[in-house]
Amino acid sequence: MPYSDLRSYLEVLEKCGKLRRIRKEVDASWEIAAVCRQLFYKFQPKERPAIIFENPKGYGIPVAAGTAAASPEIYQIGMEANSLEEINQKWDHALENLIPPRIVKEASCKENILLGEKIDLSIFPVPTWTPGLDAGPYITSALVITKDPETGTYNIGTHRMMIKGKDVTGMHIGSAQDAARHIEWYEKQGKPAPVAIALGTDPSLCYVSTTRTHEHVDEFFLAGGLRGEPVDLVPCETIPLLVPATAEIILEGEIPAGTREMEGPFGEYTGYMSPSGMRRIFRIKCITFRNNPIYHAFISQMPPSESSCIRKIGNERIIFHTSSS
Ligand SMILES: Cc1cc2nc3c(=O)[nH]c(=O)nc-3n(C[C@H](O)[C@H](O)[C@H](O)COP(=O)(O)O)c2cc1C
Repeated sequence: MPYSDLRSYLEVLEKCGKLRRIRKEVDASWEIAAVCRQLFYKFQPKERPAIIFENPKGYGIPVAAGTAAASPEIYQIGMEANSLEEINQKWDHALENLIPPRIVKEASCKENILLGEKIDLSIFPVPTWTPGLDAGPYITSALVITKDPETGTYNIGTHRMMIKGKDVTGMHIGSAQDAARHIEWYEKQGKPAPVAIALGTDPSLCYVSTTRTHEHVDEFFLAGGLRGEPVDLVPCETIPLLVPATAEIILEGEIPAGTREMEGPFGEYTGYMSPSGMRRIFRIKCITFRNNPIYHAFISQMPPSESSCIRKIGNERIIFHTSSS
């Protein structure tokens, strides 16, 4: 049975001895990053657990990190594979057997809906990942959802998001990314691009979001292929996009045409700081989230990291599959 959401997946990780709970109070502005870094310094990959910080100081919301790919062994559990080799077979099978998503009416991601003045990103314990050097707290596990305005094909990509205010973030989307192409289509017409962000989903969406696939592949179909069942999607409240129904948190919004603001610096997956620059912003029109939400993060900054592991396994497979087919 595929995981229906992040919660059911965390239960399995815990049963497999791959999830550790930190019950002590931690400061999201430095302690979460410091403990996550030690995971990679102190544990060999085979022993390395994912981690859940149950008590970020000043928030009633836990932070889960490393859950998709703190190690290949965790990636294997996320893929429901019986061996590391079977991860490759599952990717190959998914690429040949896409499964269309299912649109549902009831969705747990709508249990709470914040609109207008109530929109406030500061309710979530977004960590600062390179304390003292990053420009601020950053969302590292955004599943950025856009739709090709000409073909209707959905793309999901993980792109860093700098918290800039209660309803605005910076966005750093590389110009070669599918999402950039979608956003530019709107920008050329002087229109805002509709964009949705899902945080905390079943792991198949995380794997698809961090893996470069052909622009014609609808990534909700691909995630369906990976999990062997359709992804349940629900319409957004304020923009014409579909989002994963069981996500912990959804941010609905727009990238305004022609607007650029300073973004960065940010400690990148290479282990170096990427410099600040004038980049796009994301304006939030609505936040929806589950009751007792879990904030989900990818661990990046310095290789080896969750970021290097998740990219390596997915992209290696795509390159191999493309060159052998
Ligand atoms: C933790 C993490 C953060 C990332 N941040 C960015 C980013 O800020 N900008 C970017 O262009 N790519 C970033 N990437 C790489 C993209 O997620 C990756 O290229 C992905 O394939 C993009 O999706 P797409 O191929 O469907 O367009 C990041 C990857 C990871 C794992």
